[in-house]
Amino acid sequence: MSAQATDPAPELLIRPMTMDDLAAVVRNETRSYAFPWTPGQLADSIAGRDLCSVVQEEGAVVGHGIVSYGAGEAHLLNVCITRDRQGRGYGRVLLESLVEDLRVRDVRTIFLEVRPSNQAAIRLYESAGFVEVGVRPNYYPAATGHEDARVMAMELLD
Ligand SMILES: CC(C)(COP(=O)(O)OP(=O)(O)OC[C@H]1O[C@@H](n2cnc3c(N)ncnc32)[C@H](O)[C@@H]1OP(=O)(O)O)[C@@H](O)C(=O)NCCC(=O)NCCS
Repeated sequence: MSAQATDPAPELLIRPMTMDDLAAVVRNETRSYAFPWTPGQLADSIAGRDLCSVVQEEGAVVGHGIVSYGAGEAHLLNVCITRDRQGRGYGRVLLESLVEDLRVRDVRTIFLEVRPSNQAAIRLYESAGFVEVGVRPNYYPAATGHEDARVMAMELLD
């Protein structure tokens, strides 16, 4: 009996986001968040000086990341993998790519906020080396009222 064939891993590419990606990014954002960024907010980030990347799988945009940075500090604003591609390691690949892009821009510290209820994201950030440095009370809108934010940070060492 012949060995069972296994599907090859799909080709994954992390590349800069452009305006041509906006429709796909809006679609993934809307599918993945209860409170998604608006198309205008996403377009402003692409047109501005944020670091914006997409995850492309076999030609299709399946995730995106957005970071603001300056004066040696960065703020991770958005990390999103579209719902049906989550749990395959794509979020980790995207985060590692963003961190490397920030390293070459002389960023020393990266900050982020995350909902305490978002266990997938917290696990991703903790395993990447982020640690909790504070809490912002009632930071996020929630289904009923507001939810605190955990503030996390990671130092980029040489
Ligand atoms: C958070 C998110 C970016 C993670 O991306 P992903 O591609 O699904 O995650 P990965 O497959 O790379 O896994 C990364 C880590 O998260 C963990 N993880 C992924 N999904 C998880 C889940 N549903 N529950 C618990 N942990 C989970 C993995 O186990 C892995 O940790 P490990 O290697 O220590 O086991 C993705 O779930 C997402 O886009 N969610 C919606 C948008 C969002 O909440 N973004 C974060 C805002 S702060």
